[in-house]
Amino acid sequence: NEIRVFSPATVANVNCGFDVLGFALDGLGDEMVLRKVPQKGITITRIEGADLPYEAKENVVGVAGLAMIEALDLDFGFEIEIYKNIRLGSGVGSSAASAAGIVFGINQFLEKPLTNLELTAFGMKGEAVASGNEHADNVAPCIYGGFTLITGYEPLKIVSLPVPEELYVTIIHPHITIKTKEARAILPKEVSLQNAIKQTGNLAGLIAGLYEADYELIGNSTQDFLVEPYRKNLIPDFDFYKVTALKNGGLAFGISGSGPSMFTLSKGKENAGNVELALKEALKTKNMESDSYVSPV
Ligand code: HSE
Repeated sequence: NEIRVFSPATVANVNCGFDVLGFALDGLGDEMVLRKVPQKGITITRIEGADLPYEAKENVVGVAGLAMIEALDLDFGFEIEIYKNIRLGSGVGSSAASAAGIVFGINQFLEKPLTNLELTAFGMKGEAVASGNEHADNVAPCIYGGFTLITGYEPLKIVSLPVPEELYVTIIHPHITIKTKEARAILPKEVSLQNAIKQTGNLAGLIAGLYEADYELIGNSTQDFLVEPYRKNLIPDFDFYKVTALKNGGLAFGISGSGPSMFTLSKGKENAGNVELALKEALKTKNMESDSYVSPV
């Protein structure tokens, strides 16, 4: 009568795929315990690791869970314990992990009547509470695992992409705050045709690189012409960290989601570890406190 769910951290955008591309981290994530109870709705009984509201309607977990309970017209409810390991606002999909975890967990109780696509749509409702916008580039990889591409929002369409075996990610989280809503508000509403062409080429190149397990192509295809030029100003010394990561074995470097975490893709664990050491040192020289994480993709 009890289910424990692991809900991974995720990197959204991956530079060239703003709002459409994302991948899950293997190892870092939140945990949630669900218990089926006769009373309807969601009752949050415990939250550890973050200061979040217990009131279901104000909590991402509650909002996503209630949306699903209502849509499926369930005549029972759930008690939830939430153990947050992903730091709030760190840029690796903390709210998405909450939203995805609850809908995935409820689905397990119901013996999986819903598809991953349907679960992602419910998860997006919760994500919208936190970020002010319904996007699925964190929720989708959290539910599907691996790399996911959203090929359409209306209607929602998602493709799972292959992940080359030796692809690793290094996450470095500088201890500054960036709000997703604000990081979206600074972006221009229009882009130039020239930049759209470059971005399209990169996104296609990255996807081809994933299918071919071509690490060089992956590394050459993640430049971001649309978002990074604006958002990097929110992270002091971003360019210095980028140069450091790429010089120390990284294939690609960028802002994870809306930041402030930054991700580096590397071939193999050793390179990913070298990048981690170099970046930690680089942040130290700028007196920036941080925490970091290395994981297979
Ligand atoms: N695609 C989103 C953004 C992810 O970059 O704003 C952050 O939640």
